[in-house]
Amino acid sequence: MIGRLNHVAIAVPDLEAAAAQYRGILGARVGAPRPEPAHGVTVVFIDLPNTKVELLHPLGPDSPIAGFLARNPGGGIHHLCFEVDDILAARDHLRAAGARVLGPGEPRTGAHGKPVLFLHPKDFNGTLIELEQA
Ligand code: CO
Repeated sequence: MIGRLNHVAIAVPDLEAAAAQYRGILGARVGAPRPEPAHGVTVVFIDLPNTKVELLHPLGPDSPIAGFLARNPGGGIHHLCFEVDDILAARDHLRAAGARVLGPGEPRTGAHGKPVLFLHPKDFNGTLIELEQA
């Protein structure tokens, strides 16, 4: 059911330092920081030939990644995003199989302007999974 790996998201304590590291010693194509107030994060997109890395840093008081960084002060992999052809069909299929969809279950508009949903990390080996409409 899942398709391409759209991105790997990494929560970072210092966005500028992390972006400079990817641009510098890793030699990656790194975008400018983009505030996403609706999602409580500032994002830096890193374009790789086969996928993307997204550096996430908390924005505002209710950021969903503030708790993650409190538990992982040095940063860490926050989630993986897989593309699906039909996000509602994917949601219904996963729910029927017993997987938990986070929040009310209606897709929200993600950082790329497409509908996304998140799946409970405890149902997927400790990994938060984002599904994005392809
Ligand atoms: Co994401």
